[in-house]
Amino acid sequence: MIKVLFVCLGNICRSPMAQFVFKNMIAEKGLQDKFEIDSAATEGYNELCHAGIHHGTKEMLKSMHIPFEEHYSRQIRPQDYDYFDYILAMDDTNIEDIQLITGIDKSGKIHRLLDFSTHPRNIKDPWYTGNFDETYWDIVEGCETFLQKLNFYKPSNK
Ligand code: 4NP
Repeated sequence: MIKVLFVCLGNICRSPMAQFVFKNMIAEKGLQDKFEIDSAATEGYNELCHAGIHHGTKEMLKSMHIPFEEHYSRQIRPQDYDYFDYILAMDDTNIEDIQLITGIDKSGKIHRLLDFSTHPRNIKDPWYTGNFDETYWDIVEGCETFLQKLNFYKPSNK
């Protein structure tokens, strides 16, 4: 079982989008039994507010016919570092903030999702940009290239 935790600032826009895009991608490849997937925030305020997935992320997932269930923001905990095999952040700031909670990345588990791409980069926050479409396609690229790194990705013939 490969355990993957997607992380962003608020855990209501990018990381739940990545969680359900990745979940759908592995289900389409029959790999669902090989992975455990969750998402978390670096900040705690959305957990305190019991905030669910942002409507912009929900609308984007619906428009791409990607199934999702409700997910409530939770802040990453120190023990998540030991539990998960991969902690996949959206941007450089997330990487710094995660390590303030988990301690330094001594096992090399923390990466940006788009670090596996041929064009490594941050994934912009649609909370600020309003552009959920751009975020979605960056997340698809990140999830595909992460699966390639794991040697699971076979491009479809569609
Ligand atoms: P996310 O976006 O990190 O992609 O979930 C944000 C969501 C909420 C806030 C900031 C960023 N906020 O300030 O509440």
